[in-house]
Amino acid sequence: MALAAEAKRIAAEFDYSTEEVGKGVKEFIREMDEGLEKQGATMSQIPSYVTAVPNGTEKGIYLAVDLGGTNFRVCSIVLHGNQTFSLTQSKVAVPHALMEAKKAHELFEFLAKQIEIFLKTHHNDKFEAHRRRPSQQQYLDLGFTFSFPVNQLGINKGKLIRWTKGFDIEEAIGQDVCALLQKEIDALNLPVIVAALVNDTVGTLMARSYTSPGKTGTLIGAIFGTGTNGAYVEKLNRVKKMAQIDAELGSAAYDKSTGLMIINTEWGSFDNNLSVLPDTPYDRALDAESVNPGIQMFEKRVSGMFLGEILRRAILALYKHQDENIALFKDTSSADNDTSSLTTVAEDSPLYKQWGIDTSFLSIVEEDASDRLRITKQTLEKDLGVSAPSMEDCVAVKTLVHAIGKRAARLAAVALGAVVLSTNKLQEDDLVDIGVDGSLVEYYPGFEDYIREAFREIPEIGVEGEKKIRIGLAKDGSGLGAALIALTASKAEERGEFSQELVDSLQASSETNASRAKALELHIASRVAAELAALERKEDETLRSLRESLSSELSSSSTTPSKDQSNESRLLDLPSIPAPADAAAREDARQAQSSAKVFEELEKLRKGLSERKKVREMPREVERTREDLVGCLRKNDRRPLDCWREVEAFKAAVAKMEEDFIGRVL
Ligand code: BGC
Repeated sequence: MALAAEAKRIAAEFDYSTEEVGKGVKEFIREMDEGLEKQGATMSQIPSYVTAVPNGTEKGIYLAVDLGGTNFRVCSIVLHGNQTFSLTQSKVAVPHALMEAKKAHELFEFLAKQIEIFLKTHHNDKFEAHRRRPSQQQYLDLGFTFSFPVNQLGINKGKLIRWTKGFDIEEAIGQDVCALLQKEIDALNLPVIVAALVNDTVGTLMARSYTSPGKTGTLIGAIFGTGTNGAYVEKLNRVKKMAQIDAELGSAAYDKSTGLMIINTEWGSFDNNLSVLPDTPYDRALDAESVNPGIQMFEKRVSGMFLGEILRRAILALYKHQDENIALFKDTSSADNDTSSLTTVAEDSPLYKQWGIDTSFLSIVEEDASDRLRITKQTLEKDLGVSAPSMEDCVAVKTLVHAIGKRAARLAAVALGAVVLSTNKLQEDDLVDIGVDGSLVEYYPGFEDYIREAFREIPEIGVEGEKKIRIGLAKDGSGLGAALIALTASKAEERGEFSQELVDSLQASSETNASRAKALELHIASRVAAELAALERKEDETLRSLRESLSSELSSSSTTPSKDQSNESRLLDLPSIPAPADAAAREDARQAQSSAKVFEELEKLRKGLSERKKVREMPREVERTREDLVGCLRKNDRRPLDCWREVEAFKAAVAKMEEDFIGRVL
């Protein structure tokens, strides 16, 4: 009994009261506002440059990669446009040595190699075709889910602020992670363009919005996995720091027409100075021995990577208890040792190793409703090298697990509740949709129930508000989400918003020549493709009506071409079909002549299409203005405002090149 009482005492240190939840929400909203006002706040509130959520009708094939924790995933996604998609993926563990590599190149080269392997396995046609004869058509847009705090500078550009979740590659901090990846992709000569940089929470939000039923768009995408974080849809005019960002970093192109901006909160760093967060000796010890003490304090109390470690420290404290009659895993403390054998802890037990306990251990123990906690006993034996733990030991461990897991869920409710309240969505909409992903929320039994319980305790949400909040799993959402954002990026390009983006990417001196030229080529190719598609549609229509008018001509006795017919002929500069002098007498001749004309026209169109020229190289004027611009930016320490003349000249040269090109080929 003494052991059970001591376990309860330790568990009570993890209690997180209704009052504390309320205080947490208030402080969370304050820090959200602060993060929207200024750069460098505790909660980063990073603009993602994604300004709209999808509605499920989007289509296309995209690549996505995901680096966010222990695994690296590569996938290709086909969006069917009816809220469904097909996904092919491969997953590989990131070698621990690379997580703490000396040089960023080592990690990013590994990532690019995985992309190469994936392409060879699943898209060998594109891979081989590109090897034989590189062309823009084979390029795939890639959405790069990179789930670490990044100062996003545009849809496919962002500098790493800090590593989290055990990664520690000093050299990468401050570098553009898209450029790092593109460089390695180019070195392997892969037909891939990094089109979008995506945080996993933003991806989850997009994915949930694409697949979730109903007309209300999703408000929040949240991850409760190895790490934790959330992204939400904010009103653009509330992102006060946007002007400051534009002035400091140069304004990136993004669609302002929706009046919205998806914000990556980076809530893992909420309340780093512990003004409202709960704190126990186990939390403090975990933080002190982590690679980033004093940082990600919310994440260190909520997410999977850390819950196991908090538990390990709490178990050790109980195991090492001075009083043998109280201590865990000691036969003396056990009144009911069901195997009557000695309880021992293996010398190499993961209990002695930092990060030795995985979140899955917590989920299994929390779930265990077996007779005499048989499953917990087996898991202690198998996972932690504890042989013959008693029933009392198992109960004590379960008590600790429950307390740590429940506190995490109640803290998660603080974050979600605060975002719901700060956006006023409970008042504005009938339903507030939240997409979630991650091992904790997926597998930890009751995680959502504890979140909901805490929601009801928040006065501004209450019982009624809680009912209006829908939480749905967006499993592996980040892959789909990244594809959707890559699609948004290429759509923006189609609408002609890419020139500014292009200017921005040219400012980045770290970008490779190859990727710059490819970006330009792709931009032109997509503009030309759009023009060609429009022309082809026009040609099809003209031919169809030509055929229709011919057949009606054949079946009627009228000899005068209709007004429409002559207009269409002028439209494509087709010679008009002469009217026979005597229709009744020359019907056979006219029929032969008409079909010969149609064939002739068809031939002419086919020839015209096949003669269209291909994009070859950048015109000199573009190259010259680009060099001027880059030179100016270098001189002015990348203060783009001082280079507005060069920017204008460059934009004009690009616009002219597009016009000339389209003019030449059509
Ligand atoms: C990172 C976030 C990420 C979250 C979930 C955190 O450690 O800072 O960027 O979204 O983990 O993967």
